[in-house]
Amino acid sequence: MDNLQGENRSYWKASTHAVSYSKLAKDEVADVAVIGGGISGILTAYYLAKEGLSVVLLEAKELIGGTTGGTTAKLTSQHQTIYHDMIQRDGKDIAKQYYQANQDGRKLIESIVNTHNIRCDFRKMDAYVFSQSGSQTKNLKNEETAYKELDIDGELTDSTPLDLKVACALVMRDQAEFHPIKFLHGVLREFETMGGKVYQHTRYMDAEQNGEQLTITTDTPFTVSCQKVVLATLFPVEDPHSFYSNTLKPFTSHLTAFESEHAFDKGMYISDDDPKRTFRGAEDSEKHMLIVGGETHPTGDGSSTYEHYESIRQFAENEFGLTKMLGYWSEHDLVSPDRRPFIGRIEKDDEQMYVMTGYSKWGLAIAATGARLITDLILGKDNPYEQLLCPQRELSESEKEKAEQSASSISIQAKTLKPGQAKRFELDGNPAGMYKDRNETTHYLDLTCTHLGCEVAWNDGDETWDCPCHGSIFDAKGSVLAGPAKLPLNNVNPY
Ligand code: FES
Repeated sequence: MDNLQGENRSYWKASTHAVSYSKLAKDEVADVAVIGGGISGILTAYYLAKEGLSVVLLEAKELIGGTTGGTTAKLTSQHQTIYHDMIQRDGKDIAKQYYQANQDGRKLIESIVNTHNIRCDFRKMDAYVFSQSGSQTKNLKNEETAYKELDIDGELTDSTPLDLKVACALVMRDQAEFHPIKFLHGVLREFETMGGKVYQHTRYMDAEQNGEQLTITTDTPFTVSCQKVVLATLFPVEDPHSFYSNTLKPFTSHLTAFESEHAFDKGMYISDDDPKRTFRGAEDSEKHMLIVGGETHPTGDGSSTYEHYESIRQFAENEFGLTKMLGYWSEHDLVSPDRRPFIGRIEKDDEQMYVMTGYSKWGLAIAATGARLITDLILGKDNPYEQLLCPQRELSESEKEKAEQSASSISIQAKTLKPGQAKRFELDGNPAGMYKDRNETTHYLDLTCTHLGCEVAWNDGDETWDCPCHGSIFDAKGSVLAGPAKLPLNNVNPY
């Protein structure tokens, strides 16, 4: 890890103060309980409160602590090259609607920023997808044809406003970027002003049905009674018939922040080459920065997180001469089979429980559209995106296919571990892991994920155990950090 500098923490988190909200400490009653304190949950809570409903927002850990606070924070409808494929697979009308849903989401966020005067570094920016090698020129030309079919404002170019050599680039005009945590802190303030209640460190455990009423039990002694519940966690904490487990694939990406002598204020970028690179500028009162990421891979595939960071670091140095790394972090996404999120009723005809998930790496803008959609569904109003994002939409058969998925020797292996390292081993034929902490104490864990039993794998960059099936993340000692798992990894005793 010699070349990694700065904090192992998202720049967005490192550059803001955490908001302070308490645990649920009394029983609450509300019209709606929203579970999950990322952009989906916070915006849904905000829109529902604006409509006059009483809302309680619960977050299992810290608000905006997950994917929302870990991305490059681009508000763009340019999702690398999605539209050509979407037209081929789903038709022009669906592709056009998907584009419009993202455009609308960005405008909704801009409108909230302006209405409440939220200082969140929101700025208009063109978005570029480029190929340096030229190997993706045909793909970019196909995407430009899709732009023309869908009336998207953009075209191919052989240069960009950056000092970056490209063989070909496709621009989409009039997109935006922002600081997601500053934005959501502003939204939370407005939500509370409207009477909304917010609790952190309060984990949803179950929803018990009593007629029209639901009782949300939590990992505190207290409950929330409500009529509707919105599950806006990365992976839904309820999964009827294992639908979401069987259709969503978890991916991990890696990001870094670098200090720069000059501003990167001319566009947001993503490469179409392999390995992919994604980057954008950021500013604070003292310095210019570049946020650079990429290296997306299936979660828990055993690849070295350090090598992913190192590859990004070399790109930043080679392309832009950046050497001062301020931080590095990973973020987790769930990808749906058709790359559209699942936003709507958790099951057909369920009028009490709603879900928002599967943003397929591009969730910030469309989360606002999704928040409006959930609000309209709860209010019984029509919404133009109900069918587009409906979790029960028809998926093709191929899309539905789930992405795949002795004591002395143990003691010797443990002795060779350095502090901060971990290793997999077999215990009575079952997968087990050992982790040596900074005090040189070795912890032994059953590597069976407590969600649905897949085997977790060590992530050496973040020092976490990651589950490849649905994206649960456990800390080095087995506590749940993210994902559908509610219980920690079990301890084992190999001796
Ligand atoms: Fe589902 Fe691990 S997250 S089995």
